[in-house]
Amino acid sequence: MASLDKSFVTDSVWKPDLFKGKVVFVTGGAGTICRVQTEAMVLLGADAVILGRNVAKTEKAAAEIASLRPGAKVLGLGNVDVREIDSLAQAVATTVSKLGRIDFVIAGAAGNFLSDFNHLSSNAFKSVISIDLLGSFNTVKACFSELRKNKGAVIFVSATLHYYGVPFQSHVGAAKAGVDALSNALAVELGPLGIRCNCIAPGGIEGTEGMSRLMPETGHGASKVPLARWGTTRDISEATVYLFSPAASYVTGSIQVVDGGFWHIGNFMGDLYPLVILNQNSVENLKL
Ligand code: COA
Repeated sequence: MASLDKSFVTDSVWKPDLFKGKVVFVTGGAGTICRVQTEAMVLLGADAVILGRNVAKTEKAAAEIASLRPGAKVLGLGNVDVREIDSLAQAVATTVSKLGRIDFVIAGAAGNFLSDFNHLSSNAFKSVISIDLLGSFNTVKACFSELRKNKGAVIFVSATLHYYGVPFQSHVGAAKAGVDALSNALAVELGPLGIRCNCIAPGGIEGTEGMSRLMPETGHGASKVPLARWGTTRDISEATVYLFSPAASYVTGSIQVVDGGFWHIGNFMGDLYPLVILNQNSVENLKL
């Protein structure tokens, strides 16, 4: 996995102690993108808590992130399911008791798989909506008193696939459209309390599960990306640091797309469309 190292502090445009004394709370923080977002925040002085369902994976990731900066405190709280508000409330209480506060929240936990409509069960659709959308709501809800007290900021990890119709992603597209709407509404509602809410919408990011498992093999590689390469986890981290930094103190309700301009091309499936759809949905294969 492409992790950050100390060179991020010396080689980036950011000040080394930008987030000193601050605490970031990250759901999905043991996953590829959110982990590297956390690494950037920790390298620039923040303490962190990462949350996930898998205890061993989450604790191991937390220890590795903590090793990036001497003195960094990083908690790994496993067995937390963002679909359960009580589970998050408990994680917030633990964070405040061990790290003292929460200033920043990354709502990054997500579930995804490719499924055509014919084979997507009602429960599968509900699962993804519950993790991505209800989970994002629950995360901010659980952190609200800390965000209010510290005039904090939230980043929702969204996507670009709901800007147009992406086959086999109706569940995720619907969930992420909801996440964008949630972020916009909370930006307006919580702005007067001093809380900023923004989304980051990553495109294809190298080395992620999303890229290996979900991106169709169209054969064109990155040649159709306007900036002529796939994204990196560092690209997402740079946007994260910007949105949490004082440089973005007048930025709320925005959706920062970090995709090299790819979604504007709109030809996600290349030449695979529509044959791949017709094969999945053949009449021999009909399913309730
Ligand atoms: N295709 C179609 N349906 C699928 C599926 C797939 N690949 N994977 C799961 N489902 C369905 C299940 O069959 C089930 O529906 P059913 O009850 O009608 O059979 C439903 O989704 C819930 O499955 P379950 O295993 O109970 O899900 P969960 O709630 O524990 O897990 C998921 C959530 C389904 C999103 C699972 O893929 C997950 O946990 N992913 C986490 C990792 C991840 O997706 N990260 C995102 C990287 S981009």
